Amino acid sequence: MDLSRRDVLTASALLLARPGGAFSAAAAATVRSEQATRTKPIVLCWNENPYGPSPAARAVLSSAIAESCRYPDDDISRLVAALARHESCAPDRIVTGTGSGELLRALGVLHGRDGGEIIAAEPTYAELPEYASYSGAALRFVPVDKQLRHDLPAMRAAVSERTRAIYICNPNNPTGTAIGAGAIRAFVESLPERITTIVDEAYLDFADAADVRSVADLVGTRRVVVLRTFSKIHGMAGVRCGYAITRPDIATAIAAARMTTANIFAVRAALASLTDHAYLTDCRRRILTSRTRITTELTRLGLAYAEPQGNFVFFDTGVPLAQFTEFMQRHNILVGRRFPPYENWCRITIGTEPEIDAFLEALRVFGNRLRPKSQPTGRSAASHSPPPSM
Ligand SMILES: Cc1ncc(COP(=O)(O)O)c(C=O)c1O
Repeated sequence: MDLSRRDVLTASALLLARPGGAFSAAAAATVRSEQATRTKPIVLCWNENPYGPSPAARAVLSSAIAESCRYPDDDISRLVAALARHESCAPDRIVTGTGSGELLRALGVLHGRDGGEIIAAEPTYAELPEYASYSGAALRFVPVDKQLRHDLPAMRAAVSERTRAIYICNPNNPTGTAIGAGAIRAFVESLPERITTIVDEAYLDFADAADVRSVADLVGTRRVVVLRTFSKIHGMAGVRCGYAITRPDIATAIAAARMTTANIFAVRAALASLTDHAYLTDCRRRILTSRTRITTELTRLGLAYAEPQGNFVFFDTGVPLAQFTEFMQRHNILVGRRFPPYENWCRITIGTEPEIDAFLEALRVFGNRLRPKSQPTGRSAASHSPPPSM
């Protein structure tokens, strides 16, 4: 998130103006949309949460400046203890990182070195496989299924003697689809014990489908690593804090492979945000409401989409993506990049309400121009018509 000085000043004014310092996601939205409409483009391409950080996190971010001459070791211990309480596990099962991205990279190196095989979906979030490839990993990508979900039977069938780790991004970036905890449990139990299953739950707080929940309870016995981040529901992508939940022996190995430790701002803001429940609930409610508005409009326009469980929607534009991207750019809106082999599909991040108003307005113009001329032509368009319930 790009938090300009003006945002901070306006946010502070709003904080002061409201009894008890109540600062809602709506107030944050007003601040952001004013900025977007004046000069900057509307940024709907990075899966950030446009409302955050929470008021509690903003307050400690400011107050930590004075103490930033200190190393944050004690703060990290406090955060680890709080995360252990939050996850109902022992502190030696938690490892913090400079974003969960750092932990994904550490896991990539640990499992990929010396030609270790790593299995991942295609398409999925590339940070772990890409980084693992620098240390000589053998990558094996398994296409998502017809609903654009992880194809667990095909991933299981891809396991070989050389397989060291399997990466499951749930909900998956970029498709947004999620698989149930029961299916992941059965999958993990079917694997040889030597294989590590890495479950990336960066977007889980936005999920609302049946049985889609954390699998942190699997960490007890098997080689399972669950990753969480403060970059999404907590709205702190620019602050950089994430954590892993795993067995103590794996936690020690990940900690040793990290590049560095989280900084004092990230650690204190994470600690404060963790318990700002009202704000987090408000963010989730707003993002899910906007998500439904987007899927409703896609349905009306006859554009196929994958069932969204994150703070973004992946849909078939019906034309090569570059055409759609250019059209949106002319409306001052930046949307997601290409995700091969889905050459016609676009990932749109859920912004503030005014940002989504602007996106939907542009989408209607686009859809109305497209409809008389062509049908969706994406690779899987035929098999991904909007769910009948939408
Ligand atoms: C699925 C997934 N995991 C992890 C990350 C990395 O997040 P962080 O900001 O915690 O490094 C992202 C970032 O977009 C993501 O999409």
